[in-house]
Amino acid sequence: MISPETGAIRVLQDAQDPLLVRACRGEPVETTPIWLMRQAGRYLPEYRRVRAQVDFLTLCRTPDLAVEVTLQPIRRFGFDGAILFSDILMPVEAMGLEVEFNPAPEVNPPVRTESDVKALRRPDPTRALGFVLETIRLLRKELPPSVTLLGFAGAPFTMAAYMVEGEVSKEFVRLKSLMYREPLVFHALMEKLSLVVSDYLSAQIEAGVQVVQLFDTWSGQLGPRDYREFVLPHVRRIVELVKTPEVPFILFGNGTGSLLELMAEAGPDVVSLDWRTSMKEARRRLGPRMPLQGNLDPTVLYAPADIIRSRAREILEDVGPDTPHIFNLGHGVTPETPIEGVAELVHFVHEEGRRLREQASGAIAVGTKEAERE
Ligand code: CP3
Repeated sequence: MISPETGAIRVLQDAQDPLLVRACRGEPVETTPIWLMRQAGRYLPEYRRVRAQVDFLTLCRTPDLAVEVTLQPIRRFGFDGAILFSDILMPVEAMGLEVEFNPAPEVNPPVRTESDVKALRRPDPTRALGFVLETIRLLRKELPPSVTLLGFAGAPFTMAAYMVEGEVSKEFVRLKSLMYREPLVFHALMEKLSLVVSDYLSAQIEAGVQVVQLFDTWSGQLGPRDYREFVLPHVRRIVELVKTPEVPFILFGNGTGSLLELMAEAGPDVVSLDWRTSMKEARRRLGPRMPLQGNLDPTVLYAPADIIRSRAREILEDVGPDTPHIFNLGHGVTPETPIEGVAELVHFVHEEGRRLREQASGAIAVGTKEAERE
């Protein structure tokens, strides 16, 4: 039972917190919030114009430019969230390795042995990644209060994938060989990364991000048994070190349909899933209270408007109007995505999210009246 005072405080908080933050907390919301992973990038002509002037790393390291490209999709589409423009590999540089983008990332020298792991630094983010924190502070001044600023980091397994392989890989043979042949060295690397990532996310929160997302793009390479042994303890540690009641924590996985329960066990506020698992199944497996994020196949944005709408509607219906949901893709926007598809999706999700809620509350009101008559 909510006392009148707590009720009033809740109303005050709600008036201050943007839609996306409230949805991540599982509070009732007026419509479904939406933002997209990789919403800034090459599919936008205004992004390509900036990139024609500077390389990707310079863009990430120059706060004024990083602010500009973060804001580009906000101006165009009316997203509820702005994700800090950066890359999951920025802390890897700060740990002492060389990172290049051609455009796929390359890391030099790769991390393969115990002494390689020992040589990695645990940087002070306020020094080594100060440009990211400056970008965050500038963004909080620029963004309207209704738009939530999301910070992010790569999850340890995904960062380790680039650090051990040295490049994008298909089978992750070197990473997984290290895991199976030298588990102590593997865990030492994961532990170090967990501390670096926790320091980094906490510094982002300190600088002003309102939600954080941990990107575990590659942990879907593991089955549940290995995820539990090699990944879960490290992700759980990060959640414990970083999560605050004010700043919700989203855990994203790709190809992680068989790992959803284990991801939830790590303790995030929100589980973000790819399109290979239906929202209906995710909802059934994780229960009605767990805030879920996702999960449109990014290539549906290449389809005609009516297909985009019907696929988005299916997701909204599957997730249920009275259960917490943040609309997103199942993975990032791809570089050739038609801009009209994105605009259509954002408009539709806001309209339909509102309509489904009104319909549901109408049905409840009718149900109550009928119950009163009986
Ligand atoms: O809009 C946003 O989502 C914020 C910016 C962002 C980027 N990368 C910008 C980027 C975020 C959140 C990331 C995360 C990231 N980076 C992940 C996790 C999410 C995912 O996509 O799985 C991963 C695995 C990386 C590593 C990475 N960075 C790759 C594999 C690539 C090259 C891929 C490609 O597009 O060719 C990058 C480069 C990168 N990161 C670009 C952008 C906009 C393209 C750089 C360019 O302009 O040339």
